[in-house]
Amino acid sequence: MATPQKILLGITGGIAAYKTPELIRLLVKKGIAVQVVMTRTAEQFVTPVTLRSVSGERVLTADWNNQEDPFDHLNRTRGLAAALIAPATANFLGKLAHGVADDLLLTSVLALECPLFVAPSMNPRMYANPAVQDNIRILEGRGVHIIRPDEGEMACGDSGAGRLPSIGHLATVIEEAVGPTADLKGKRIIVTAGPTEEPIDAVRFISNRSSGRMGVAIAEAARDRGADVTLIHGPLSIPLPENITNISVRRAQEMMDELAARFGGCDMLVMAAAVSDFRPSVVYDSKMKKNEAGLSISLEQNPDILERLGKHKENRLIIGFAAETDNLLQNAREKLLRKNMDVICANDVGRGDIGFDNDYNEITLISRTREPLSLPRLPKRQLADRILDEAARLLSSPRAAASGQG
Ligand SMILES: Cc1cc2nc3c(=O)[nH]c(=O)nc-3n(C[C@H](O)[C@H](O)[C@H](O)COP(=O)(O)O)c2cc1C
Repeated sequence: MATPQKILLGITGGIAAYKTPELIRLLVKKGIAVQVVMTRTAEQFVTPVTLRSVSGERVLTADWNNQEDPFDHLNRTRGLAAALIAPATANFLGKLAHGVADDLLLTSVLALECPLFVAPSMNPRMYANPAVQDNIRILEGRGVHIIRPDEGEMACGDSGAGRLPSIGHLATVIEEAVGPTADLKGKRIIVTAGPTEEPIDAVRFISNRSSGRMGVAIAEAARDRGADVTLIHGPLSIPLPENITNISVRRAQEMMDELAARFGGCDMLVMAAAVSDFRPSVVYDSKMKKNEAGLSISLEQNPDILERLGKHKENRLIIGFAAETDNLLQNAREKLLRKNMDVICANDVGRGDIGFDNDYNEITLISRTREPLSLPRLPKRQLADRILDEAARLLSSPRAAASGQG
């Protein structure tokens, strides 16, 4: 699956809205389709007919009332590569920062799952207002990319910071965001995902709540960035990604064997699977009867996959996860060093709104060479790209050959 090449362009009621037909023309010329959603006030500055003409797509307006498909605004804003709000009024920034959804654009933006770029544009005194600046900070804290306004003379005669950046600059930002990034081209990447199952008898097993979504998101993101990806996964109930070598395993030992056979030929391993630490010491071939089982199952330790592979790391990159409920950063850092990893993604699985079996996650990236980087709560696909940004940086920088035992 190639990266989708369609964006949402949200237009709000700022004077710079008159520049948007030209922006759309440029984006379309670059091969990027544009779905326009505009506010009622924006229609005072630029007409839906003009926007429809240059985008070639039905424009969603505040009065949109499609009886054939009342969910058109949600359907048309699915599967987008990015969204850009330009110009973004002070009014829009305030509403979005506080989750207000009283028009079609705000409603659509709240439902987005793609990266969001916002280009504030307003009078310099408005832009300098602490309320506006606070709203921008709130949005940035949630992972919204703010495209800072230029300084210069405004339509109102004032000058200062507040001008919408040039159309060329906006188009380049979007092109870079949606264009097929090929920074992992030629890299052989192994990703593990999902839980493992440790059989107790013919029908019972020990497992955990991992859904495999994080690992699958990383595998897809790496594939879309040009990597040659192998996904080694435990039992998953989500669809398997396309154009990836998928290897299905059940027990931790099988995952270990598959990894041991492939690790030597890879440039990077991302260990996102939740591998069972323990397995039953005895596995019954048939279903245990109540009286056979007694009251306890004796367990023994599974091989520690990362610790074993870390000893043969050489100059391969290893990225792991630390799912913790207590002392997150301290435990994660200790694990990073003990298992000879390059980066560890620490996540707090004690919280119900992120982590296991959830479309969102919130992690802190801990590496050997940089300060911990706390990422906001984001859809797993977006987090996957943030993790791979760090991986691509490390893969392209010269690394010490074997920091481990080699
Ligand atoms: C002529 C005129 C120009 C305006 N230009 C801007 C602007 O550049 N930026 C801004 O934040 N508000 C501007 N406003 C104010 C907004 O139009 C107003 O806050 C409106 O409620 C925004 O609605 P919307 O955010 O739903 O589009 C302007 C108003 C007028 C009358």
